[in-house]
Amino acid sequence: MSLSLKNRIAVVTGASSGIGAAIARELSASGVKLVLTARRADKLIDLSRELPGEVETVAADIAASETPRRLLERARERFGGINIVVNNAGVLAMGPVDDVDLDAISRMIRINFEAVVRTCYTFAQDFKIQRSGSIINVSSVAAFGTRPTMGVYAGLKAAVETFSNSLRIELGAHGVKVGCIAPGSTQTGMLLDLRSSIGISPDAPPAKAEDVAAAVRFMLEQPDRTNIAGLRIYSACEGN
Ligand SMILES: NC(=O)c1ccc[n+]([C@@H]2O[C@H](COP(=O)([O-])OP(=O)(O)OC[C@H]3O[C@@H](n4cnc5c(N)ncnc54)[C@H](OP(=O)(O)O)[C@@H]3O)[C@@H](O)[C@H]2O)c1
Repeated sequence: MSLSLKNRIAVVTGASSGIGAAIARELSASGVKLVLTARRADKLIDLSRELPGEVETVAADIAASETPRRLLERARERFGGINIVVNNAGVLAMGPVDDVDLDAISRMIRINFEAVVRTCYTFAQDFKIQRSGSIINVSSVAAFGTRPTMGVYAGLKAAVETFSNSLRIELGAHGVKVGCIAPGSTQTGMLLDLRSSIGISPDAPPAKAEDVAAAVRFMLEQPDRTNIAGLRIYSACEGN
């Protein structure tokens, strides 16, 4: 039987659009109380008004070193604790060697990997003490098969997968679950950039953000005795 998520408390990063907003909708419909974060406060507030459950919003740059602790403290203040963190915030910077924006690449390294590491450790310390909690990190199928011009993005997602697996092994015996979800082409603002850059056929229908969100809920609903370490969601006609 699947675990009920009702009255659980979750932080979702990158919740102002795309996959993060879909995860917020899915979890809220399952009775989860939410702390939603991203930089665009107006988008977070619009989303919070639409959701059925209790929601707190925190407008912040996830790459700022103090943000993970702010999120943890806000969850404790508003809801009295924390059970779930979904590290979804991410950006895509890519380009050929003669036209690469190194500042954008550096920013991506901070957002797509360093911020995931900081957030995981900040929440994992609490989860280990309370002997429960779930961390889900959004990686990418690019972690398992890169293409020219997007090696840093793919490498960072591979790093997220490996780091998450190590944490899973370290924390499993302490009642803490860690898993990754790796979307393929998913209909969001980020995909529009990616499709034009690497030439995925516009005829190949992408997955929807809701499909990824449903899979996140499925991972979280597993009984205490199991931990789904990773799921890959390719769109049906996608090669890699
Ligand atoms: N779409 C795909 O095909 C696909 C495939 C594989 C993996 N993914 C992964 O899925 C995740 C979500 O992406 P998406 O497709 O839903 O794209 P998206 O619609 O562009 O969403 C990205 C989210 O990350 C937030 N974000 C970006 N930089 C941030 C920062 N410095 N601080 C705080 N929040 C920040 C954005 O919010 P603000 O701009 O408001 O800060 C936004 O909410 C990413 O990790 C991405 O790598 C996507």
